[in-house]
Amino acid sequence: MNTLDAINARHSSRAFSDRQISDADLEKILFAGGQAAVGGGAFHSLKLIVIQCPDLLKAIDESSAKMRPGSHPLYGAPTLVALASTKGFLENIEWTNAGCVIQNMMVAAADLGIDSLYLWMAMYGINNDPELVKRVGIPEGMTCVGTVALGYEAQEFKKPKADEQRIEVAYIK
Ligand SMILES: Cc1cc2nc3c(=O)[nH]c(=O)nc-3n(C[C@H](O)[C@H](O)[C@H](O)COP(=O)(O)O)c2cc1C
Repeated sequence: MNTLDAINARHSSRAFSDRQISDADLEKILFAGGQAAVGGGAFHSLKLIVIQCPDLLKAIDESSAKMRPGSHPLYGAPTLVALASTKGFLENIEWTNAGCVIQNMMVAAADLGIDSLYLWMAMYGINNDPELVKRVGIPEGMTCVGTVALGYEAQEFKKPKADEQRIEVAYIK
C-alpha cells in the first residue's frame, strides 16, 4: 500500500475479533513507532510496552470502564501497546510525542491490514490504578501517555467521511 492510501485506510475500530496479530507484523508496527518524530530526539524518555496477556487486558478493560460502567473500552482487542514517558523537558511535549508515535504505529498497522484504535480510555485505566501501573511495568518516573489497540475487526467499521478533508483549512499565501 502506498503511504497516502495507508493514512486514508486507517480508522478507529471498536469491535475486535480474537484473532491475534503475528509477531512479525507486531515488530514492524513497533519499529514504525520508533521512527516517529520525537521532540529533541529524546527517544530515551519513551518506552513501548506490548500487552497480550488476556488477564492483564481484562484488568485494564475493567479499570478503564470505571468512567463508563458496563462498557468495554478495549473493545476486545487482543493486543494493546502502551507508551510510557518521563515528564517532557518542554511543556506537554510527552503528549505530542505520544501522538506522533501512536499515529505512526496506526498507519503502519493499516498498511499491514491490521485494525487499530488510539485509546485514551486505557491510558486513564492504567494510570489511575497503582496495581496496574506495576503489572504493566511502567518504569519509576514514567507515566502512560497513550495506548493503541491492535487486532482485526470482528465487524467492519467505516471511517467517517473517508476521502474528505475533515479539518478546516485556512490558506495564507
Ligand atoms: C488522542 C486520542 C484518544 C482517543 N481515545 C479514544 C478512546 O479512548 N476510545 C475510543 O473509542 N476512541 C478514541 N479515539 C478515537 C477517536 O474517537 C477517533 O480517532 C475519531 O473519532 C476519528 O475517527 P477515525 O479514527 O475513525 O478517523 C481517540 C483518538 C485520539 C487521537
